[in-house]
Amino acid sequence: MSEEIRTSIHGQWSSRTAFILAATGSAVGLGNIWKFPYITGENGGGAFVVIYLLCIVTIGLPIMVAEVMLGRRGRQSPVNTMAALAAEEGRPAIWFLLGWLGVIAGFLILSYYSVIAGWALSYVFRTASGVFEGATADGVSSIFTEFVSNPESLLAWHTIFMVATTIIVSRGVKHGIEKAVSYLMPALFVLLIILLFYSMSTGYFLDGLNFLFAPDFNKLTANSILVAMGHAFFTLSLGMGAIMVYGSYLPKETSIAKASMMIAVADTLVALLAGMVIFPIVFANSLEPGAGPGLIFQTLPIAFGQMEAGVLIGTLFFLLLVFAAWSSAISLIEPAVAWLVENKGVTRVTASVWCGMTTWVVGIGSVLSFNLWSDKTWSLSLFGETLFENKTFFSTLDGLTANIMLPMGGLFIAIFAGWLMKVESSKKELNTTEKGYNLWLFLIRVVAPIAVMVVFLNVTGVIK
Ligand code: PFF
Repeated sequence: MSEEIRTSIHGQWSSRTAFILAATGSAVGLGNIWKFPYITGENGGGAFVVIYLLCIVTIGLPIMVAEVMLGRRGRQSPVNTMAALAAEEGRPAIWFLLGWLGVIAGFLILSYYSVIAGWALSYVFRTASGVFEGATADGVSSIFTEFVSNPESLLAWHTIFMVATTIIVSRGVKHGIEKAVSYLMPALFVLLIILLFYSMSTGYFLDGLNFLFAPDFNKLTANSILVAMGHAFFTLSLGMGAIMVYGSYLPKETSIAKASMMIAVADTLVALLAGMVIFPIVFANSLEPGAGPGLIFQTLPIAFGQMEAGVLIGTLFFLLLVFAAWSSAISLIEPAVAWLVENKGVTRVTASVWCGMTTWVVGIGSVLSFNLWSDKTWSLSLFGETLFENKTFFSTLDGLTANIMLPMGGLFIAIFAGWLMKVESSKKELNTTEKGYNLWLFLIRVVAPIAVMVVFLNVTGVIK
């Protein structure tokens, strides 16, 4: 392939910073602020956080480097990138299926992601209306319970979020994302710091820190290790081609390793900050850390109701959360849209509308999971280990994508980039120091794939 062909037909980022911003926009989202605190609460705190951080460094980072590298080398949608790179490296064409695994995972994730983003959107208005002013923990909780029990209203918010996402995606990568993210991410960060001061004033800050950072490894189960690893993939947007497709719009000169490191650090900081904000509020109000997906909606409004200028800060906070979710949602659907444009000859607009509609329909299942279908659950055990327990439609999709499909995608990415791609190809593409390259090669060849496999085998009861 000549260098000329190696520019994506979908455009290119204007600079390295633009890529970092867009990829950070993809990484930082509901995963950091909504999901990280609630799964940490459900899985007992500190020890879970330690495993999560370990996974970020030893599995997430090397796979992120690999994914960006494959994307930049292939310069197409993940499906076509994998096909082209397999051909280039003399490997079987079947590797294009890895791209498809990602496309499907992206659809499934976005379908429920949009429902939760809809909650955040409705909380922008709810907070602005002042209902949380002076509200008790019980009051805040019942507002949430009442809200999610109404399928029509959840459906309406899900619809608004999906339509907005479709519109942005249809306009293409270069318009919008870069600029929006460069203002909104720092603003979100500032608001989290303001909230951190509130949490410090609750008198329960240390209890929160203790819960988050003091590990009690007795609390770890095989399943919570799987959830921690799955979340490392989810929060960094790895294993499904989102970061690969963003890598395909990356100019040649950029250092992939440095960019990946910055993205991972920013992402992790936001998650830890969110945890440090939320758990003191949980303990100050005698709430349950394991309250589940409603956790931030049942804790943060208490803070907004009590603090100075809480209506303004709270409204802004949820607004920024919606934007963070939006910039992630865009990347969830981009692999599919890029593929449709490349292979079906349709315009970006048509491709976006089709993808948006399909995702919206699947999302209805998640809307109903919190009300009409909340008792429609199922469980699954394998070799005496419980793999799925009392899963609704929503939690099935979440578990299947984050804990199985993304790590599986990541495993194959590691195998392809580490073992099947020629060393000279990856070395040339990464263009980093000898030491840095060797470290990456060791992590991607040995550490990451073995870690993922061990966690998989452990949770299925094959190894103990
Ligand atoms: N990383 C996003 C978050 O933490 O909210 C979610 C996500 C985006 C996951 C894109 C996967 C992905 F490809």
